Amino acid sequence: MKKIKISTNFDIYQSLNDLPSEEFELMRQAIEARKEAYAPYSKFSVGAAVLLDNGEIITGSNQENAAYPSGLCAERVAIFYACAKFPETQILKLAISATASNDRTVVPIPPCGACRQSIIEYEFKQKTPIEIIFMGASGNVAKSASMANLLPLGFDNSYLFSDI
Ligand code: THU
Repeated sequence: MKKIKISTNFDIYQSLNDLPSEEFELMRQAIEARKEAYAPYSKFSVGAAVLLDNGEIITGSNQENAAYPSGLCAERVAIFYACAKFPETQILKLAISATASNDRTVVPIPPCGACRQSIIEYEFKQKTPIEIIFMGASGNVAKSASMANLLPLGFDNSYLFSDI
C-alpha cells in the first residue's frame, strides 16, 4: 500500500480591482451576466463569462425551472453556448461571480462538481489549461491556473476507450 497526496494552488486577490485588466473585464462581464440570472427558486444568482482565443467573450447566468433538475448552472450555460458557437476555438479563461440574494456573498464561490466535470472535458479536448477566476458579489477573488487544479482525478474520455 502507498499513499498519494494531491495538492492544489490558488492565487487570492484582495478585491476585483486587483485583477489584471483582462481578467477584471472578464469578471465585470460575469457580474453583469449574474444580474440577468433567472433564479426565482433558490434566489442564488450566478454569472459566468468565457474568454475565447478569438477574443470573443460569451456570458451566461443560471436558469432555474419549476421542475428543479431541469435548470442549468451559469457556467454550463456559458461554456456550452461558447463551444456550440465556436467549436474550433480554445477557451482561455472563465470568470464566475455568485451570490445569495442581497449581494451579500463575500467569499469566492467555486463551480459545482457537475460544472467542473463539464469544463474539464474542454480542457482535455483542447490540451491547454482553462484559467478559472471566481468570487462572490464582492470581496476576495480566487484564481486557479486550470480546471484540473480544481478537479483532481477528473474523468476523461481515455477511460472509455482503454482496456485498462
Ligand atoms: N449554480 C450555478 O449556477 N453554478 C454553480 O456552480 C453552483 C450552483 C446555480 C444552480 C442553481 O440555480 C443555484 O445556483 C443554486 O444552486
